[in-house]
Amino acid sequence: MSRIVYVNGRFVPFEEATIPIMDRGFLFADGIYEVSAVLDGRLVDNEAHLARLDRSLSEIGIRNPHGIAEWTRLEEELVTRNGLKEGLVYMEVTRGVAERDFAFPPEGTPPTVVMFTQAKTVSANPLAERGAKVITVEDLRWKRRDIKSVALLAQVLAKQQAAAAGVAEAWMHEDGFVTEGGSSTAFIITEDNRIVTRPLSTALLPGITRRAVMRLAEENGLTVEERAFTVAEAQAAAEAFFTSASAFVMPVIEIDGTRVGGGQPGPMTRRLRDLYLEMARAS
Ligand code: PDD
Repeated sequence: MSRIVYVNGRFVPFEEATIPIMDRGFLFADGIYEVSAVLDGRLVDNEAHLARLDRSLSEIGIRNPHGIAEWTRLEEELVTRNGLKEGLVYMEVTRGVAERDFAFPPEGTPPTVVMFTQAKTVSANPLAERGAKVITVEDLRWKRRDIKSVALLAQVLAKQQAAAAGVAEAWMHEDGFVTEGGSSTAFIITEDNRIVTRPLSTALLPGITRRAVMRLAEENGLTVEERAFTVAEAQAAAEAFFTSASAFVMPVIEIDGTRVGGGQPGPMTRRLRDLYLEMARAS
C-alpha cells in the first residue's frame, strides 16, 4: 500500500504532495503542529490534542480551518487509508502562502493544512523495557513554549546532541531547573514516592500525556507535586521518566552519565506506563 498524505483538502500519494516555496511555514516557521498517537488503529486522547491545536492557533492568530469533528474525520480517514495500526498522526497548519513579508498576509489567505502518518511501535517499545538515557542541555528556546510552534530549531539541536551522545532524549534546563524534554515532558519520583513535574507556564508545553498521567496517578492514589526540579535533584531521584504522544511513559535510567534508580526502570514508572497503556487501549 503506498503512503497517502493529506494536503489542503486532498488525500494524495506522498510522492505527489508538495508545498509552494512561499509557504510561511517554510519561510518563517509560521505555523503550529500536533502529534496524536494511534494504538490498535485508534487515536489516543485525540480531543485533547485537537483542543491544544486550536489554542496554539488562536495564540498566534491563525484561523483554525476545521472544527474538532472535521479534524477527527480527516485523521481517521488518513489512518484507514494508510492501514495504520500503531504510530502517529502528524498535523500542521501554517499561515499559508503569500509573497515574503514578515507581517501577516492579506486577510483571507487560506492556511496550509498538512497531515501524515508514521508507523511506529509505541506500546511494545523495547526502550521502555531497558529504560532511556538522557543528557541535559541549556534551553535555548523562545519565551512562548506553551505554543506548539513548528519553530523547533533549539529542539533539533538539543536532540542531535542527544543522538550524538547515543541517548534517547535531551532534557533542557534554564536558571538551574529542568524545563522539559526536547519532545517530551520531564518527571521525577522522590524517595517518598511523590511524582514531581514542573507546573504549567509559558516555559513549557502543556503535555497531553502529562495531563493524562497526572490524572491516572491521582485516581490510583499516587501523589503528584507540581514544582520545578534541578538536574542534580533528578540525578539523585528514586525514579525518572518522560512522557509524550510518541513515547507514552518512558523510564529514564541515566542522566548525564549518572545512573538513576540503580540504572533500571523503576516500579512506579512501570505502573504509570501500564496505567497509561490501559487507558490508551480503552480510548
Ligand atoms: N512532542 N514538550 C515538548 C517540547 C514536546 O515537543 C512534546 C511533544 C511534549 C509532550 O507533549 P504530548 O504529551 O502532548 O505529546 C512536551 C511531539 C510528540 C513531537 O514533537 O513529536
